[in-house]
Amino acid sequence: MAERSDVLVVAGPGDTQDLILSAVAAHELGAAVVTDLEQVAGPWRDAAVVLVADDQARRLAGRALPHRDGVFLVGTDVGTLSAWSTPLSARVIPLPEGAAWLATVLVEGSSRARSPVVVVLGGSGGVGASTLAAALAQLGADRPQGAALVDVDPLGGGIDLLLGAEQTRGWRWPRLNGAEGQLGDLRAHLPVVDRVSVVSMARGPALDLAREPLAAVVAGLRSWHSLVVLDAGRSLGPAAREAVRLSTRQLLVVASGIRGVAAARQTVAALGLESPELVLRRAPGGLPPDLVAEAVGYPVLARLPEEKALAAAAERGEPPARGSRRRYRRVVARLLAELVEEAGNG
Ligand SMILES: Nc1ncnc2c1ncn2[C@@H]1O[C@H](COP(=O)(O)OP(=O)(O)O)[C@@H](O)[C@H]1O
Ligand SMILES: [Mg+2]
Repeated sequence: MAERSDVLVVAGPGDTQDLILSAVAAHELGAAVVTDLEQVAGPWRDAAVVLVADDQARRLAGRALPHRDGVFLVGTDVGTLSAWSTPLSARVIPLPEGAAWLATVLVEGSSRARSPVVVVLGGSGGVGASTLAAALAQLGADRPQGAALVDVDPLGGGIDLLLGAEQTRGWRWPRLNGAEGQLGDLRAHLPVVDRVSVVSMARGPALDLAREPLAAVVAGLRSWHSLVVLDAGRSLGPAAREAVRLSTRQLLVVASGIRGVAAARQTVAALGLESPELVLRRAPGGLPPDLVAEAVGYPVLARLPEEKALAAAAERGEPPARGSRRRYRRVVARLLAELVEEAGNG
């Protein structure tokens, strides 16, 4: 597949082009600047977002390109903007007052804003959901923009403990619970472990995490990371439901015994999960994967090996995918490859 730019910029040299390109650069996106309209058809079709400067609107409209979404007319000449908005099926971003909106459009439209968001749910208590979420984020951190791990379980004790980051300075949920709307780059504010940006619960009274801040934080993290992992644990509250809604993939960790399977079925129903994929944790007297899949009604994507050293590592605050736990790491790496491959994130 040919290299694709996130953003097509149709603008002649000048202030508007400068402003657009500095916004593109500030968000570390790739842009193709086209002024020769003979060359515009391909990028017009392929780019995630098209920004047309007011000085090029008339020429571009003259080419009668096929209709597409995600076209924005940008510039200072309000008359030109409104005249060519309809012919180009474009929304209008007047400058300079629309600069913040331009940033939003760039981030939401770019392919990075489409990074996978994986929610990990526990089908029963202590089944290894947090461990899996942390390991996925750790291995996902090798991707170009790194990974983020978000704690959505108010009674989980704080996922920073699992990563040995409880002493690491940085924002935790109490600092972020008022967030709404468009957040900037959070990376500088969050604790980072092994290239994983962590949004953790804090010690102290359980936090009533609301939906809006979760949505804002996930959207913000998504535009700066190649992967976002949400640990919703066994929570059934509004934040857990929002986590499911925000996710592109839902993993349900299921203990393979009769009780684990029964509990997993209840979890699917209680959260109204539409397309969970199962990750099996072996339990004494456990059922084989095909029977678990049949009983819960969803496919099994991976089987976690029993790794005795994980519990001790967690107590020491040693992240699960570090150290010598090779079998576990190999299974999680394979699972991660399945989760990110079709997201077309490269
Ligand atoms: N694959 C595994 N093999 C052995 N122990 C594991 C495995 N996954 C998790 N554990 C251990 O099980 C306990 C519960 O794990 P945790 O991830 O906190 O579960 P949950 O988030 O579902 O409550 C921890 O002590 C953890 O180290
Ligand atoms: Mg947990």
